[in-house]
Amino acid sequence: MRELEILKEEDKEALELPRTSVEQADTTGKRKLYIESYGCQMNFSDSEIVTSILQEGGYATTSNFETADVILLNTCAIRDNAEQKVRNRLKNFNYLKKKRPEMVVGVLGCMAERLKTKFLEEEKIVDVVAGPDAYRDLPNLLSDAEEGQKAINVFLSKEETYADISPVRLNSNGVTAFVSIMRGCDNMCSFCVVPFTRGRERSRDPYSIIKECQDLLDNGYKEVTLLGQNVDSYKWASEDGSETVNFAQLLERVALVNSDLRVRFSTSHPKDITDEVLYTMKKYENICKYIHLPAQSGNSRILKLMNRTYDREWYMNRIDAIRNILGDDCGISQDMITGFCSETEEEHQDTMSLMEYVKYDYGYMFAYSERPGTPAAKKLVDDISAEVKQRRLAEIIDLQLRLSQERNNRHVGKVQKVLVEGFSKRSEDFLQGRNDQNKVVIFPKENYKKGDYVMVTITSCSTATLKGIVVKS
Ligand code: SAH
Ligand code: SF4
Ligand code: F3S
Repeated sequence: MRELEILKEEDKEALELPRTSVEQADTTGKRKLYIESYGCQMNFSDSEIVTSILQEGGYATTSNFETADVILLNTCAIRDNAEQKVRNRLKNFNYLKKKRPEMVVGVLGCMAERLKTKFLEEEKIVDVVAGPDAYRDLPNLLSDAEEGQKAINVFLSKEETYADISPVRLNSNGVTAFVSIMRGCDNMCSFCVVPFTRGRERSRDPYSIIKECQDLLDNGYKEVTLLGQNVDSYKWASEDGSETVNFAQLLERVALVNSDLRVRFSTSHPKDITDEVLYTMKKYENICKYIHLPAQSGNSRILKLMNRTYDREWYMNRIDAIRNILGDDCGISQDMITGFCSETEEEHQDTMSLMEYVKYDYGYMFAYSERPGTPAAKKLVDDISAEVKQRRLAEIIDLQLRLSQERNNRHVGKVQKVLVEGFSKRSEDFLQGRNDQNKVVIFPKENYKKGDYVMVTITSCSTATLKGIVVKS
């Protein structure tokens, strides 16, 4: 799950701009819904569920908030700057609310869940507050608001997985899609707000997951990314307990939907990723050889304070297992936090040396941001100055840029399978897609099109992208 402050320019563009809803073809007689999503892939996926629920409730999406009857912001609370961004965005809607007081403004997602009624008190423009497990109630909440009543539902469920809801694919390229396989998180990492905003961990029924993947394939999609905060702890049991499915088994079932359907997943937790998962990845060509394995720190004392429940040696052992089972070419990326409570200069150096050891393909790096109510906020002191956090952050970003360049250089001269996702950002004479290791590959368009698998010889690279030419499709 990722948000901002990342390395790859392409990702940065995609994530810094909030994703917004598109104009639906037929909006006659329907109320117009504009929805904007912040934060991680989980939120983008949830916005697709929300859109589906509201379509049933008589809404049609619009890409223009100025004419919308309802504006929804699906918010993120992971760091203070993520919340500030939402607060600033709300200010942009003030003039509209003055002009059209009947327009409804709702906030969804993690910041809604964290702030609850405080959101209504602090941001007068907000009419509706709905937490991540309350989306089925949105038609009611919105109709209360349309009648002039403020409405809130931040109830967290132990069961809700929205398994039966077919997401409406927003901003889709028609080739790749997110499929949510679980919700919530039981891991209580001391810095993290997610367990408070998304509640207890629960796994979605595998049959509904397979059906969603099959439907996507039938509609021309070629790649699914299975989403959860900690996919490796996916665990489902039938009601009578006669059938159980773990993550490796789910992965296998999804891979078997069709060998033409690529499978990715995010996020893996170092404490839970098993050799069984790695062998399943090895067994199926269509499971991409790429693992996002957030470390957060390379120092065992800090990892303990973070309550990550693994130490440096355990993490390195998991990396060794990946390299042994899947080979050196498997892509690996990280999340790191700099300047966590009491982190010393030597401990920061341990993060750098872990990065050198792993040789990550890329990473998502953040300065520690204390979140109210988390175990770290209650028990530890946020004692590293902003300057030091930022300097350490700059150091690890520099190091990651060097490692990304080194890793990308390895691809030059090789022939790689790429799934075409659309035009390159800079020119319609070029297409772009990703290779197995999740790297963006750009090549001349010729007669290829979105959704094709092509074999590309990589001819050059930067820290962010690979460039090449198609040798065959
Ligand atoms: N479930 C994923 C992470 C989800 S949050 C996992 O366990 O790996 C995405 C990333 O945001 C985290 O990996 C972490 O690096 C970062 N993050 C979370 N809380 C943060 C905080 N309080 N300050 C700075 N970064 C944070
Ligand atoms: Fe947060 Fe840890 Fe759960 Fe990831 S595993 S969402 S970092 S509590
Ligand atoms: Fe995702 Fe942000 Fe919530 S990272 S889970 S939207 S706090």
